[in-house]
Amino acid sequence: MSEHVALIGFMGAGKSTLGRRVARELGLPFVDSDAAIVERHGPIAEIFAREGDAGFRQLEYEVVRAALAGPPAVLALGGGAVTHEATRALLATGAVRVFIDVPLRTLVSRLRRSRTIRPLLGEKLEPERVRVLWERRMPLYREAEIVVAAGGHRSQAAIAREIVARVRPQ
Ligand code: S3P
Repeated sequence: MSEHVALIGFMGAGKSTLGRRVARELGLPFVDSDAAIVERHGPIAEIFAREGDAGFRQLEYEVVRAALAGPPAVLALGGGAVTHEATRALLATGAVRVFIDVPLRTLVSRLRRSRTIRPLLGEKLEPERVRVLWERRMPLYREAEIVVAAGGHRSQAAIAREIVARVRPQ
């Protein structure tokens, strides 16, 4: 692979787990944007509390820019990365974007069980809040070059295999 591969999609879509697998199979480094932000700037909840959504998006933009400036890698992005115009533009020109498309119902049930702190969702998960955010973001996710249906009973291994097959040059 001579290009970056960027996994995009809603919170709870499995981007980090899939990204790690895909990177291993492609023999590329793996970059998790949330983890990179935490490493450099501390916990995500604290960044949101301190600097708001705009501050977080700026840090996310810088992490994406640094990753895309380096050697080809597989990137797992935070669910809201594509809402920032400059980040979206970077991804559009600098990576093959793969949208991990998981049905809303599945996302809600995964997010309900998740222990990860996601400031945008608040303390108690409200399905309606998730739906509004998901609907607003769907057109942005759909800009991806590759859309992978990741719902139903498909295993992470099978989804990762499909991503590898579709991004690998023929
Ligand atoms: C966010 C998603 C999170 C994290 C932050 C904001 C979002 O990442 O970047 O809490 O706006 O959708 P995940 O998609 O990995 O949960």
